[in-house]
Amino acid sequence: MPSVFIKTYGCQMNERDSEAVAAQLVAKGYTLAASEQLADVVLLNTCSVRDNAEQTALNKMSDIIGQAKKQRPDQVVGFMGCMAQSRGKELIDRLPDVDLVLGTQKFHRAAEYLDELLAGRQKSIVDTEAEQGSEGTIREHLLTGKGAKATTAFVSIMQGCNQHCTFCIVPFTRGPERSRTIPDIVSECRTLVASGVREITLLGQIVNSYGKRDIPLRDGKSAFVQLIEAVHEIEGLDRIRFTSPHPKGYGDDLVEAYARLSKLCESAHLPVQSGSNRVLKLMHRVYTRERFLEIIDKLRSATPEIGISTDIIVGFPGETEEDFDQTLSLVSEVGFDQAYIFKYSPRKDTPAAAMPEKIRQEVIEERHARLFDRINEVGRARHSAFVGRTVQILVEGPSKKNDARMTGRTRCNKIVVFDGNARHRGQLMNLKIERASNFTLYGNPAIVNLD
Ligand code: SAH
Ligand code: F3S
Repeated sequence: MPSVFIKTYGCQMNERDSEAVAAQLVAKGYTLAASEQLADVVLLNTCSVRDNAEQTALNKMSDIIGQAKKQRPDQVVGFMGCMAQSRGKELIDRLPDVDLVLGTQKFHRAAEYLDELLAGRQKSIVDTEAEQGSEGTIREHLLTGKGAKATTAFVSIMQGCNQHCTFCIVPFTRGPERSRTIPDIVSECRTLVASGVREITLLGQIVNSYGKRDIPLRDGKSAFVQLIEAVHEIEGLDRIRFTSPHPKGYGDDLVEAYARLSKLCESAHLPVQSGSNRVLKLMHRVYTRERFLEIIDKLRSATPEIGISTDIIVGFPGETEEDFDQTLSLVSEVGFDQAYIFKYSPRKDTPAAAMPEKIRQEVIEERHARLFDRINEVGRARHSAFVGRTVQILVEGPSKKNDARMTGRTRCNKIVVFDGNARHRGQLMNLKIERASNFTLYGNPAIVNLD
C-alpha cells in the first residue's frame, strides 16, 4: 500500500483536519511516511489567514516538485484546506505538477481521489465544491502518536463562520457556519475516551455560536453550554477545553459553566484583535473594549485561576499611534497569560483590503516589536507567580524541545516541563513549580506526587 506524508500549516482546525485525513488513509491501508522524500503521496494542508502562510506552502510545494518528484515521477502531490479552497484550479495552472486540490468541505474524499490518481485513471483532480453535511465528516482520529496512545484530542463541532470580520478570509475558505448535532459529537467523544483520551478540546471558529439556529435555549442555556454539559457527563474524561469563543454573545451561561462544571478547564482563548473601539468597529468585531473587559472581569470572578490568551492584529488599515496605545494598555490591563500577534495582511475580497489607509511595513514591524515586549513582560509576571505553587498537569508526552523531558499542561493551559518518563504519559500529576520562563513552567521531579 502507498505511504503518505501530510504537512500542516496554520491553526488547530487544520491540525485536526490533517489528522482526520491521515486516519482515513490509514484505515484504507496507507502507512504514514517519515518525510516527504519517502512518501508516495505528499499533501500540504494550507492556511490562508495571512499571505505569508500561503507563500510558505507554495514555496514548499515548488521544492517538493523540484526535488522529490524529479527522482520519483510517480509521486502524487496535492494541496488541501484553506488555500486549496480559495485558489482552486489556479494552483494547478501555476504549478502544473500538482495532482490534487482538495477544498475544505472535501477532506472525506481524499482516499477516493488518491486512488484515482495513483492508478493513473485521472491526471489531476480539483474539488472545491460545497457539500451539504460536510461538517459531520471530520470525525476519524489516529489515536496513536509516536507509538503511544493519544491523551488529548481535538473534536470539530462546527465548520465555517458568518461573522465576516473585515480582515478575515475564513468565511470564504470555510464557508458559512454549520454545526454538528450534540449526539453526534458526544458519540465521537465517547469513542475517544474509550481509547484512552482524557482531555478533549472542542473546536470551531466561533464556538459560542454553536447550534444557535438549530438547538433552542434550555433553562436559559445556549446550545454550546448544553453541548459542554453533555460532553461533561462522559465517564473517564477528565478535562474539557474549547477554542475559540468570540466576545460577541459571550453569555453569562458560559461564564457560569466554568464554576459549575468541574471538567471544564479554567482557560479561555478569547481573540480581542485590538484595544481601540475605533479599530474594533472598522474590523466589524461588534464589541467594545469595555465589553471585552467586562467579560474578562466576569470570568475572573467566576473562576479566579483562569488563564486567558488572545489574538491581536497590528497594523490594521488606519490604525493610529493612539489606537495602538489602546492595544498596549489593554494588554497590561487584562494581563493576558499568552497573546498571539498577527501582522495585518490584506486578503482577497475582504473589505479591509480595500481600505485606503495602509500602514507602512516598518511601522507594522515596530509596533509588533513593542507589543511583543509588552506581552512578554505581562506573561513573565503571570508565569513567575506560579513558582513555589503545586499545580495539576495532564502529562501529554515528551517535550518538543528536549525529548528526554516530559511535558503537560495545567488546567489553566500553561505548559509545564519536567524530568519524567514515558510511564507518566496520560496521567494527572501534581507538580511543584520551581522555575518559570516567559511562557513555560518547570516542575521539579523530586517533588512529583502521583495522584
Ligand atoms: N475565529 C477564529 C479566528 C481564525 S483566524 C478564532 O477565533 O480562532 C485566527 C487569527 O488570525 C485571528 O484571530 C486574527 O488575529 C488573525 N487574522 C485573521 N485574518 C488576518 C489578516 N488578514 N491579517 C492578519 N491576521 C489575521
Ligand atoms: Fe475570521 Fe472573524 Fe470569523 S476572525 S473566523 S471572520 S470571527
